[in-house]
Formats: sequence, C-alpha cells, structure tokens
Amino acid sequence: MPERDPWRSLDAQPNVRAMIAGLEARGATPAQVRLRARFLRFVPVRRGERVLEIGCGTGVVLRDLAPLVGPRGAVVGVDASRTILATARRLCKDRGPITLRHADATRVPFAAGGFDTTLAITVILHVADPLAAVREMARVTRPGGRVGLQDQDFGMLGVTHPDRELTDNILGGVARHLYEEPHSGRRLPGLLREAGLERVRVLTDFFQDTTLEPWTKTFLERRAESAVRFDLVDAPTAQKWLDGFTALVAAGSFVFTMTYFGAVGVKPRAAAR
Ligand SMILES: C[S@@+](CC[C@H](N)C(=O)[O-])C[C@H]1O[C@@H](n2cnc3c(N)ncnc32)[C@H](O)[C@@H]1O
Repeated sequence: MPERDPWRSLDAQPNVRAMIAGLEARGATPAQVRLRARFLRFVPVRRGERVLEIGCGTGVVLRDLAPLVGPRGAVVGVDASRTILATARRLCKDRGPITLRHADATRVPFAAGGFDTTLAITVILHVADPLAAVREMARVTRPGGRVGLQDQDFGMLGVTHPDRELTDNILGGVARHLYEEPHSGRRLPGLLREAGLERVRVLTDFFQDTTLEPWTKTFLERRAESAVRFDLVDAPTAQKWLDGFTALVAAGSFVFTMTYFGAVGVKPRAAAR
C-alpha cells in the first residue's frame, strides 16, 4: 500500500519536484530562517564540531550549519531520497565542509560516537519508527554530545478564517489522515528521554505569517487538495475555503501561526553504546 505521508517515499511521488521546490521556499522564508537560527543557538552548535543531520532534504539546515562549525568542523547530511540528495549536492556545493549520504534514519552508515551533535529537523513527524530513529541518532553521538529534534505540531496550528468549522475540518482532518502522530512536536522531549538521553531541554517556538508568504500559500493549497483527495470536502468547498484567506489578506486581517517544538538531550557519558 502506498504511504499516506508523501515524505516517507519522496522518490515515488509524481510531484517530487514541487515538493523539493516547496522545501527550498520554506527554507528561504525570512520567519523560517529566524526560527532555524533560534533552534541552532538553543542546541547549541559550536565551532569545530562534527554535526549530523538526518532527513536533510535539500540541505537548508546543512547550509546554516556549515558557517557555524567553520572550516575545521564537519557537516554530514543523510536522507532516504536519492532525488532530493541530488538537489542537495548541487545546492550545498562550495558551501563549506558538507558531505551527503543516502541512508534511512534508523540505520545510518556511521560508527558509534562519531558526532558531537545529531539533529533531525521536521523529520521525526514523518518516520515510521521515531524511537528507532532517535536511538540511532543517540548511537552515533559521542558521550556528552547532543541530540536535537524539532518538529511542527499540527494540533497547534492557528489561522484566521471566516469559517472556523470548515477550517478545523480541513486542517485537523488532513493532518489526521497524513500523519500517524500529528502531535509529533509535543512528543519530542519524551522521545529523547525514552531513547536514553539526559538533561532534556525544550524550546517551543512559532512560525508566524501575516501576509500569506508564498510558502504558506502553497501549504494551504496542498491542505485543500488533500482535503478533496481524502473526501473531507468537495472541490468547490475547498476553493471557497482558499478564497476566504485571500479576502483576509486584502483586509489586512490574515494571521497564520505554526507551532514548532524543539527538544535537545545529552548522551550520558557512562552510556555503554
Ligand atoms: C520535510 S523534509 C525536511 C528536510 C530538512 N530537514 C529541512 O528542514 O529542510 C523531510 C525529509 O526527511 C526525509 N525522510 C523521510 N523519512 C526518512 C527516513 N526514514 N530516513 C531518512 N530520511 C527520511 C525525506 O526524504 C525528506 O527529505
């Protein structure tokens, strides 16, 4: 059976190019740039460190990490999609000490303890076995090193719209159909503890948009398409819903917030693995 969450099998998606472009559009959105910077400061990532990002996508985060670790550090990205890795290779070329590998989050081709920091940013939401992925991240992190996770939480999405019930039906319904755990964000601290990490800290943060940025517009359009596909609404209702946002933007009353949970834990120094 095909996966409901398209990020689980990106290479098989008919709109893989559009998904890749969407990731870059999100990465370039100024409020998202600031959100990533706040999380990387919270982790924190230091100069000279070896950092691994699992589910690196097009390398948006890898390109942020390279100047943070500097020329004496190393940034490694792994992803399960060969298509997105080809794009990442192009976009990360000449952007610092970045290397890329094809691998699943639950089995990365690295020895135990080789990284100072291991990150997964908007990835745990998509993986089939989040605990196995976080345990694997902990395995390749050195004792005393950090494992950092950040995810949206689709139970905490705020948006203005004249039809609140329809909005809840579309946004809540699509998230429940797409993801096994739409509330992934708030579960991240518990996941780190379950994987054996200590001194877990949490940063709750928001993406905020009041002008309907291109990425937000695409996000809402994709939600409307999915709502039709999952039979939650018919196509004219989905279009009417999208038109409701356009009217709010014109009136200067549009507000969209998406909650991101960040959680960072430390690998115990006495850990056996
Ligand atoms: C939403 S994107 C996030 C990309 C990047 N971290 C960012 O924030 O821009 C999710 C990425 O995780 C990858 N992915 C999904 N499941 C995976 C798995 N089991 N192992 C490795 N990568 C996976 C997808 O191919 C995709 O590139």
